Amino acid sequence: MERTLAIIKPDALAGGHAGKIIDRIISEGFAIRAMKLVRLTRRETEGFYAVHNERPFFGELTEFMSSAPCIPLVLERADAVAKWREVIGATNPAEAAEGTIRKQFATSMGENAVHGSDSSENGIKEGRYFFSESEIVAGGADVTEA
Ligand code: RTP
Ligand code: MG
Repeated sequence: MERTLAIIKPDALAGGHAGKIIDRIISEGFAIRAMKLVRLTRRETEGFYAVHNERPFFGELTEFMSSAPCIPLVLERADAVAKWREVIGATNPAEAAEGTIRKQFATSMGENAVHGSDSSENGIKEGRYFFSESEIVAGGADVTEA
């Protein structure tokens, strides 16, 4: 089993799409190990996206992610990182494949509905950024094969 961090970003939450995205998470066979509603501070988003701090879109990205509440979730499944990235689609919604979450809900490159970790190591690290060990729940819902 592998873990990935998903975030239902402010645009998708404000747009009323959180329920459908959570439904999709479950139907794709992920077990939700942690989930919460948070309003991140600018400083917290800068820490989370520190890897991008030299990029031209860093200011826009951290401003957007701290502009309204979002929902981080720790998801678990076999091949969780690759599978979740397949389900969310390309960063730019114009390039996202049919049936992906970003194709369905993203409005732009910046406001692209959801986040997904890019490696197994970052899945663990990013989960810890939002949740303490005791908030990541072991067991519970069965993980089904998708
Ligand atoms: P994420 O980390 O959110 O799952 O997205 P990703 O891997 O597909 O994309 P990444 O390269 O890690 O970029 C992180 C987020 O920064 C915003 N972005 N804006 N305006 C731009 O050119 C631009 N490029 C990236 C997006 O919100 C992207 O998800
Ligand atoms: Mg990324």
